[in-house]
Amino acid sequence: MNLLEAIQKRRSTRAFKPTPIDQELLDTIFTQAQFAPSNCNTQPWHVSVVSGKMRDELEKRMIADIMGGKAPNMSFKPGDQGLKDEFRKRQIDCAIALYDSVGVKYEEKDKRQALMLKNWQFFGAPHGAFITMPKDFGEVNAIDVGIYVQTLMLLMTANGIGCCPQGALAQFAEPVHELLDIPEGHAILMGMSFGYPEAEAPINNYDVGRDAMLNAVDFYS
Ligand SMILES: Cc1cc2nc3c(=O)[nH]c(=O)nc-3n(C[C@H](O)[C@H](O)[C@H](O)COP(=O)(O)O)c2cc1C
Repeated sequence: MNLLEAIQKRRSTRAFKPTPIDQELLDTIFTQAQFAPSNCNTQPWHVSVVSGKMRDELEKRMIADIMGGKAPNMSFKPGDQGLKDEFRKRQIDCAIALYDSVGVKYEEKDKRQALMLKNWQFFGAPHGAFITMPKDFGEVNAIDVGIYVQTLMLLMTANGIGCCPQGALAQFAEPVHELLDIPEGHAILMGMSFGYPEAEAPINNYDVGRDAMLNAVDFYS
């Protein structure tokens, strides 16, 4: 698969086959992702990949926290508070496209919540990842992590693996810190679910589209 194909083929995947990915392939992909650039080569990312019993236990503990009424407790301030104008519109359009793909109407609050809950069930994926960086780092370092994550997602796509980047997986951090050896001083920036996609699932087959290039880019000479 060439680069353009990988860029165009990558889509957030939210339905997975249960088949786990071979460790050898995971080693290759995560080794290649290390080539991502970063400010002064600081490489601020750390990834904790969970599979098998650990994945299941984390799902159980995060869902228990949510169902027990715990409020989200994020180390890094969410960037989507108080979205306005075209940003709010895109956020709403994106949610509606997701509901539509599985026939859920906005008024069906229970179904919407069940769909939301799937975030912490790793959307049924056999693998999850928690991506952290030092807690006292800021936006500049988060850029590095973002570049790393896109590099990782394109490598996954090129290897037939689907993934969903998830801010939601940063929201209930306690069990993650309890069960995993997250490096000292690190906090969770985001997470990801990944595995082989259920190619035909409607939730994997809708397109949220993008704004026209010239609305995002100006050329000067
Ligand atoms: C940093 C980041 C956080 C995201 N968080 C979530 C999330 O918590 N749950 C979810 O279902 N999708 C999440 N997404 C996926 C976006 O909704 C998706 O990338 C966007 O709608 C564009 O669709 P596409 O990835 O299929 O091109 C996230 C994406 C990014 C880049």
